[in-house]
Amino acid sequence: MRIRRAGPLDLAPVRSLAAAAFVAQGDYAATVAHWFRARGAQTAVAEAQGSIVGFVIWTDDGRIVAIASARPRAGLGRALLRHALAEIAGPAALEVSCDNLAARALFASEGFAAVPGAGGVYPSGARYESMRRT
Ligand SMILES: CC(C)(COP(=O)(O)OP(=O)(O)OC[C@H]1O[C@@H](n2cnc3c(N)ncnc32)[C@H](O)[C@@H]1OP(=O)(O)O)[C@@H](O)C(=O)NCCC(=O)NCCS
Repeated sequence: MRIRRAGPLDLAPVRSLAAAAFVAQGDYAATVAHWFRARGAQTAVAEAQGSIVGFVIWTDDGRIVAIASARPRAGLGRALLRHALAEIAGPAALEVSCDNLAARALFASEGFAAVPGAGGVYPSGARYESMRRT
């Protein structure tokens, strides 16, 4: 498995992975596709035996926009997050659904902490919290 910068041909598999990984968040695959193409955002993919098995998207100002892994609990999510944090090389921020216990545990274990009073409610009605890492 290797983590590398994404290229244009990776958009389709990243989109498919996002559609499967973000079922609870509605049509997040379209949002992921937007960020994949956006100026000021970077995507890295994890590739194993020619398949895309994970991705992470972050912005130049240090916001983790999306992260997904198709290999649950095998260390891939953590490796992708660490890749993005190494690229950001400074303070990082993100938003995560309060009911997304796996992601919150991952982020907390990599030094993110909830910002008191900074959460909100997604259009879907789900509550989210804002987390920062300094
Ligand atoms: C969150 C996500 C990226 C984690 O990917 P992963 O490859 O399973 O992560 P790892 O194997 O590296 O696990 C890292 C840590 O995450 C936490 N974690 C992962 N899965 C978990 C679960 N099912 N329950 C509780 N904690 C979990 C643990 O703290 C774990 O560390 P540990 O195994 O040492 O206890 C993955 O669950 C995913 O793709 N979720 C759907 C997309 C999503 O919600 N993304 C986050 C919002 S953008």
